[in-house]
Amino acid sequence: MARHLITSAIPYINGIKHLGNLVGSQLPADLYARYQRARGHEVLFLCATDEHGTPAELAAAKAGKPVAEYCAEMHDTQAELARGFRLSFDHFGRSSSPQNHQLTQHLAGRLADAGLIYEVSEKQVYSIADGRFLPDRYIEGTCPNCGFDSARGDQCDNCTKQLDPVDLIEPHSTISGSTDLEMRETKHLYLKQSAMRDQLETWIDSKDDWPILTTSIAKKWLNDGDGLQDRGITRDLSWGIPVKRGDTDWPGMEGKVFYVWFDAPVEYIACAAEWAEAAGAKAADWERWWRTGAGAQDVRYTQFMGKDNVPFHTLSFPATILGSGEDWKLVDYIKSFNYLNYEGGQFSTSRGRGIFMDQALDILPSDYWRWWLLSHAPESSDAEFTWENFQTSVNKDLADVLGNFVSRVTKFCRSRFGEVVPEGGATGPREQALITELTERLARYDAHMEAMEVRKSAQELRAIWAAGNEYLQSAAPWAVFKEDPEEAAGIVRMSLNLAAFYADLSAPFIPDAAAELRKSLALDSAGWPDDVVLALSRLAPGHAFTVPENLFRKLTDEECEDWAARFQGTRD
Ligand code: 2FM
Ligand code: ZN
Repeated sequence: MARHLITSAIPYINGIKHLGNLVGSQLPADLYARYQRARGHEVLFLCATDEHGTPAELAAAKAGKPVAEYCAEMHDTQAELARGFRLSFDHFGRSSSPQNHQLTQHLAGRLADAGLIYEVSEKQVYSIADGRFLPDRYIEGTCPNCGFDSARGDQCDNCTKQLDPVDLIEPHSTISGSTDLEMRETKHLYLKQSAMRDQLETWIDSKDDWPILTTSIAKKWLNDGDGLQDRGITRDLSWGIPVKRGDTDWPGMEGKVFYVWFDAPVEYIACAAEWAEAAGAKAADWERWWRTGAGAQDVRYTQFMGKDNVPFHTLSFPATILGSGEDWKLVDYIKSFNYLNYEGGQFSTSRGRGIFMDQALDILPSDYWRWWLLSHAPESSDAEFTWENFQTSVNKDLADVLGNFVSRVTKFCRSRFGEVVPEGGATGPREQALITELTERLARYDAHMEAMEVRKSAQELRAIWAAGNEYLQSAAPWAVFKEDPEEAAGIVRMSLNLAAFYADLSAPFIPDAAAELRKSLALDSAGWPDDVVLALSRLAPGHAFTVPENLFRKLTDEECEDWAARFQGTRD
């Protein structure tokens, strides 16, 4: 039995996530976690909310709540939605947890001891009206290059020129609109990533099986300009993890916090500690997943994330881990995703464009979404959600192929033999051919699932469902029954066993439908088929079952048009 540590990029706390966020990390991570569990491996699957930074503070202010209260509430909301989508986290933690405070401060202390942290005095934009330093993207003004009047302090969205806030003409705070800004001196800590460049490059070069999307982004940053840049790891904010060196104060850093991107990945580790504490377990129970000296050298660690997160996971977080000189487990495989677009444009949280997790669950059960999102995962390029494509996929794959197969065979059996697996009939060449096909397809399905090739896995699963449909269609037990009930019984028994086989194979993609099917077929346990012949004799003659409710319904043109109209506007 192997041991799999699996983490999904942790979603920002400031608001409900859209389906593009979901398919870029949490959902494929769940698919993989469910698959590895079904194969009998030991899995620790972790995710959390990413709670620090200016966006969290501003969202809380907008909601009229203290930031800690806002984060606690949004964490619960996100946890509830994760349950709604059947994301099978072993723990859904919080980057604001005491465990993360302690570990982030500890790691910063280790990095300082190793000589990898230095102080920089710099001038930053301070907004007198807002009473705070402004991060670059909260300053807007006119672009000196193209004259666009809403250029941000870091970049002009119109001409893409990289900017410095001081370049802007007539800059103002986007928080209050105030133009009463000044440059103020402030001190920050920098992590000497440049000192670890060669070590990081050697490590990344050793990962020749990583997706090109992952390694190409990592390489770009390693070789950007003069090479890997050092990085500021502190901010002048009040909400966050106070800058400390272990548990002692850091002179000159009073009132400052660590940068959100410094503490967020540390939460992957802290989350395991939260998980152990919630389960009443000992430190050794989580350390065996994270510390190589405590058993984690046997763990296979896989991270899932959108492409914008790759630099932090291939360079910054490994720099923190390696720089600490401690025995933390490094990631073994990084699965990254492109973006999902929505009906010809981008999903947008700020503009409320697209479908958000709560809205999706309000209109359809999670399996419908899981299937579409995973079977269209943006792996080799960006992908696009359209209502038309969603309707076609649901109606064809789920309703016509899988749902219809299950419904036909169970209802036909009930009408001719009762709700019990019938006896009689032998396997002939037609069944042999089916078994041969399924054996090949199962091997391919397993290989794709192991490789986290999400779209290819979905295609193979769909082909496995279709093979059963074709078998049933050509064997036509309803016609055979008139002449030879015994032969018809054999076909029905084979088909009922196919339904059981599908329940197991489909569970990582559509867990609710799989559970319902298992229940109807009175399958005592979930399993993973290694041998198709054995799997297709699991339901023996005399085994009782009940006809399931329709597993999936078809989506009508009218409702899809309604939804398209409803979700084109702005979320309130
Ligand atoms: O892009 C995001 O949604 C970030 N909140 C991901 C953080 S992942 C990690 F660093 F913890
Ligand atoms: Zn411009």
